[in-house]
Formats: sequence, C-alpha cells, structure tokens
Amino acid sequence: MRVIAIVNQKGGCGKTTTTVNLAGALAADGHRVLILDMDPQAHATLAVGLEPDDLEVNLYEVLVEPAGASRLDSVIVDVTDDIDIAPSSIVLSALEQKLAAERHDARTERLAAALDTLPPLYDYVLIDCPPNVGLLTFNALRAASEVIIPLETSFFAIDGVQKLLETISLLSDRIGHQLHVRVLPTLYDGRTRYARQTLGDIRELFKELCFDSVIRLNVKLREAARQGLPISLYAPSANGALDYASVAMELDASPPDQASVRAGASEVELEETIASGPPREVVVRFRDASAGDVRIAGDFNGWVPDKGVRSLIESDGQTRVWTKILQLSPGEYQYRYVVDGEWREDPDNPQIVKSAIGGRNSLLVVR
Ligand SMILES: Nc1ncnc2c1ncn2[C@@H]1O[C@H](COP(=O)(O)OP(=O)(O)OP(=O)(O)O)[C@@H](O)[C@H]1O
Ligand SMILES: [Mg+2]
Repeated sequence: MRVIAIVNQKGGCGKTTTTVNLAGALAADGHRVLILDMDPQAHATLAVGLEPDDLEVNLYEVLVEPAGASRLDSVIVDVTDDIDIAPSSIVLSALEQKLAAERHDARTERLAAALDTLPPLYDYVLIDCPPNVGLLTFNALRAASEVIIPLETSFFAIDGVQKLLETISLLSDRIGHQLHVRVLPTLYDGRTRYARQTLGDIRELFKELCFDSVIRLNVKLREAARQGLPISLYAPSANGALDYASVAMELDASPPDQASVRAGASEVELEETIASGPPREVVVRFRDASAGDVRIAGDFNGWVPDKGVRSLIESDGQTRVWTKILQLSPGEYQYRYVVDGEWREDPDNPQIVKSAIGGRNSLLVVR
C-alpha cells in the first residue's frame, strides 16, 4: 500500500484536482484507491459526488479519538468499484483546538495510527491536504511515505516551496521515516511564454524530483469536479484525463524505494558526520577573470552567502582569486559559490553530490 500526501500550503494549486483525478487514473489502471480528505473545505468529498452535510460520519470522528480507538473503515464510503473515500467536513477545522492539550506526537500520529487499522485492501492511499501546514497536514505527512507537491506554473509558483521542503525534511528527520518528495507542474498554459519559462525554471530547480508529466489547463477538469466525477469517468479522452493517466503511469513505474532523492538526505547524513572534532581552518579558492562578486554558501553557514566566512581577494595576472577561509569540524559539507548572484558548483572540485532538492552541490570533506 503506497500512502501519498498531496501537499502545498498554497491555495488553488491543484491539490484536490490531483488527488481525485490521480485516484481516477490509478483506478482505470486496475488499482484500488482510497482517498483521505483531510481538508475541512471537503472539496475532494464534493468532487467525488458526496455532500458532506448528508454524511453521518467523517474523518473527524477517527482523528478525535485516541490513536487506534476508532476504526477508519467505519467512515469509508464507496465511490466506484475501485475508489473509496474517507470524507471530510467543516468540523475537521475544530480538530486543532480540540487536541490542543495533547502532546505534539500524540496529536500528529492520529491518521497514521488509523491507517494501521485498515485491512490491506488498497494499492494506493491519496491524502488531500488543506492549504496550510497545520495539524491536519502534519498528520498526513506522518502517515505518508511519499509526497506530491502540485506547483501551479504561473507567478510565484516556487515561492514557499523551499520552506515546505525544509519542513518536510525536518519532519522526516524527527519521526525517523523517509518521505519521498516529487513536484507536479499543474495548471499549465503552454500558450503563454511565461508559463513555458516557469515550467523550465521548475524543471531546472527540482530536476529528477519533478514529474515528466505536466497537467495542462483543461476546463473539463473543472466540469468533472462539478459533476462529482473523476475525469477518467467524465471525459476520458480530454487532456486532463490523459495528463493524469500519464502521472499515474510514472508513479506506478517508480515505487518509493527507487525514487531518486529523498527530502532531507543532506541534513540527516550531515548530522551523522558533522561536529566530530574541534573546528579547524579550511581554505578554498575560486579563480575567475570576469566575476565581480564571489561568495560561498553551504551546510556550514545555513546557505547564507559568506555568513561566518573570511574572504580575501587577490590578483593572479589576469585572473582574480577569491580565497574563502572557513572554520569547520571534521565531516562532509555541501556548498556552492554565488558568482555575481548566480549559484554555481566549484569548478575546481570534481566531487559533486545531489542536493536534497535534486540540484548539484560541491562536496567538501574535512578530516
Ligand atoms: N489543470 C486544470 N485545469 C483547469 N482547472 C483546474 C486545473 N486544476 C485545477 N483546476 C481548478 O482550479 C481550482 C483550484 O484547484 P484545486 O481545488 O484542485 O486546488 P487546491 O490546491 O486543492 O485548492 P485549496 O488549496 O483551496 O484546497 C478548482 O476550481 C479546479 O477545478
Ligand atoms: Mg483542495
């Protein structure tokens, strides 16, 4: 059973559309899918044709009980032969306050504990999250082993994603389980140059963490939601159906143990290697004839360019040499240079590693 949380604190980026239509596409491929609607707005519940007010029970009943006390299957509703849903309701918004007095761990493991009580009926569990990183999203992340972050390919898409990745990484670290993160470009309008450019930026930034599939803007997706059907049933030949079918195929072809990079890899590994001796002076040099400003950023200074670093600039004929003096304990450190505002690997260092978000960093080993 693969448990996937669909997360982004940004509203309207396609979380619910992705949850419901990916469920439809996976079901069309013969998988059994459970949707968990963790958003008090209950949009996923509505998008599969249910009216939250007509339902007697919902996920609130499961989450409000102490871990393991309430069985998840008592709130599950059949949507189609292959899709079930644990519905939401506006009462879910009261959960945070209701559980305020409880220990953080006890509050955030409710959904994971409830999932443990399920018989192994499902191939996929897709969790639709609200547009914030509060208690409900934390519960989803604790229960999941994979995360899909839908990113709208328009203005400010990437804003806040770094923060979200850090949160996911910290959480993976704290709960000691890996979360495999992937980014899905959504609401893509290929007619505009801006969208094409943003898609390029997203691919460049997230590299193999980005799905090859892209969800195009398609009005049929909106209509399908209004009709209470996944698009695979409402308009199976529409672009929206084809795009989600393509995501389903990619997802199915790469189970999490083969997923390329996990969030937080660098931090977790770093903690194991760092601070195993007194700091000493480490000198690195960057040579360039045309650069005006060269700074260094890495694990050692929280990726803040030149923070805590002593710099010297010398000339070596035509070439200028930037000397950076770092104070480092034995361990491994990832870093990059910021050359006139552009982030670059160290051209003189052949040791390159993948960063937590799929980019490339230079590696410095201090013995
Ligand atoms: N590819 C698309 N083409 C056209 N419309 C879309 C597409 N994806 C989503 N939409 C529409 O955009 C709106 C927002 O999408 P959606 O509800 O999936 O976002 P969300 O991230 O779940 O929002 P929230 O943060 O409020 O939960 C909806 O009206 C939805 O039907
Ligand atoms: Mg939503």
